[in-house]
Amino acid sequence: MRIAIIGTGYVGLVSGACFSDFGHDVVCVDKDESKIDALLKGVMPIFEPGLDQLVERNVRQGRLSFTTDLAKGVNGAEAIFIAVGTPSRRGDGHADLSYVYGVAHEIAAALTGPAVVVTKSTVPVGTGDEVERILREVAPNAEVSVCSNPEFLREGAAIEDFKRPDRIVIGVEDARAEDVMRDVYRPLYLNRAPILFTSRRTAELIKYAANAFLATKITFINEIADLCEEVGADVQDVSRGIGLDNRIGPKFLHAGPGYGGSCFPKDTLALLKTAEDYQSPVHIVEAVVKVNDARKRAMGRKVIKALGEEPRGKTVALLGLTFKPNTDDMRDAPSIAIFQALEDAGVHVRGYDPEGVEQARPLMPGMTFCDTPYAAAEGADAVVLVTEWDVLRALDLKRLKSTMAGDVLVDLRNVYRPQEVIAAGFQWQGVGKPMRGRTGSIEVAEREPVSV
Ligand SMILES: NC(=O)c1ccc[n+]([C@@H]2O[C@H](COP(=O)([O-])OP(=O)(O)OC[C@H]3O[C@@H](n4cnc5c(N)ncnc54)[C@H](O)[C@@H]3O)[C@@H](O)[C@H]2O)c1
Repeated sequence: MRIAIIGTGYVGLVSGACFSDFGHDVVCVDKDESKIDALLKGVMPIFEPGLDQLVERNVRQGRLSFTTDLAKGVNGAEAIFIAVGTPSRRGDGHADLSYVYGVAHEIAAALTGPAVVVTKSTVPVGTGDEVERILREVAPNAEVSVCSNPEFLREGAAIEDFKRPDRIVIGVEDARAEDVMRDVYRPLYLNRAPILFTSRRTAELIKYAANAFLATKITFINEIADLCEEVGADVQDVSRGIGLDNRIGPKFLHAGPGYGGSCFPKDTLALLKTAEDYQSPVHIVEAVVKVNDARKRAMGRKVIKALGEEPRGKTVALLGLTFKPNTDDMRDAPSIAIFQALEDAGVHVRGYDPEGVEQARPLMPGMTFCDTPYAAAEGADAVVLVTEWDVLRALDLKRLKSTMAGDVLVDLRNVYRPQEVIAAGFQWQGVGKPMRGRTGSIEVAEREPVSV
């Protein structure tokens, strides 16, 4: 099957590489020449585990190619995926659909035969209707269907997620589009990945409802973590205690510094705007957005408090800057708000991240970037574990401490056991854990976590 993917970012590139690996003939199109030039040289524009080998293999075997020429990519394609960005529109938080509609115009002008145009970008309800209107207006004689196929992959595990999805959601309005989409996903269908066919508007809403629900789950446990700190309970035990209930499930119940990334913040905001437009408020999601926004900066204040009386002039090392591990994506990362809060308080900030420095640099101009976590900790009064990259999960705490000026460790991901941190000479602070630990004290009555 011949497939064109318009927009070769995270979603477009991963989808294109995986579709070609299934045996389809895929052309990935992007208007960003530097991105396409790099891909033609085998250089990946993003960090995603396993992506470079997948791309290399399929390019070598002639199933995957890259171009900036949309007309060339679309020529002869039976399925044309739109995978461009839908960022928050400046000022009002609506999804900015200008890229999607721009591409719809370009596709319409380039169509050479029957095709199904598939929106893979995350788009508000009704976007498919407008894409269809544009196609019919610009290319009134074209035999074209429009369907919605939202993407649920997670950065950092994108290939696995794409190849072994929990489900595939396809919103169609006609039988021909359904047949083409069945062919596109046949290799996965044979693996018994459930395919859910719905109406186009339903598919569009499923994506937002899924992200809003996950954002709610994270925010819920974050608020419970705050309560744990006040009442002397342990949020990790609470998470286990509720997560073992099948109706709740254990995932997305890790307390931390708030959600970030390229999807949850913008998608929750866009859902609020849709709800507003249809005068059907989603109060729970409103609260989630508000609580999460406040939380990121509050984490900065938590660090400042841990520094003691006078934070001005002190130094803090932030370990892990990307919004989560295994990605170089810095979009809406909590580290940004934490960095800003610290800078505003006159704190010098040093930072380490295994993959995100290039993206972080322009967002954190005042930060001193270091090549290792130990270098970042040099002379610092406090170190803060912000993002739990594997390389930060088993630090030599004594070595870390030995290079520091102070002795504070704030573990915003609850990776380390308080006792080991305290034993290494630190004052320790976690998220939603009973109390702060102090060197040489037994304030933290560490227990083994709930066993099952
Ligand atoms: N990143 C994720 O984890 C993820 C997961 C699920 C869904 N999504 C959704 O998928 C969509 C794409 O997200 P992303 O993270 O891949 O975005 P991205 O910013 O990484 O990539 C978008 C690409 O589209 C290109 N583009 C824009 N206009 C174009 C045009 N006219 N012609 C050709 N190319 C054009 C850009 O140059 C860019 O390379 C968004 O709607 C997002 O919400 C993202």
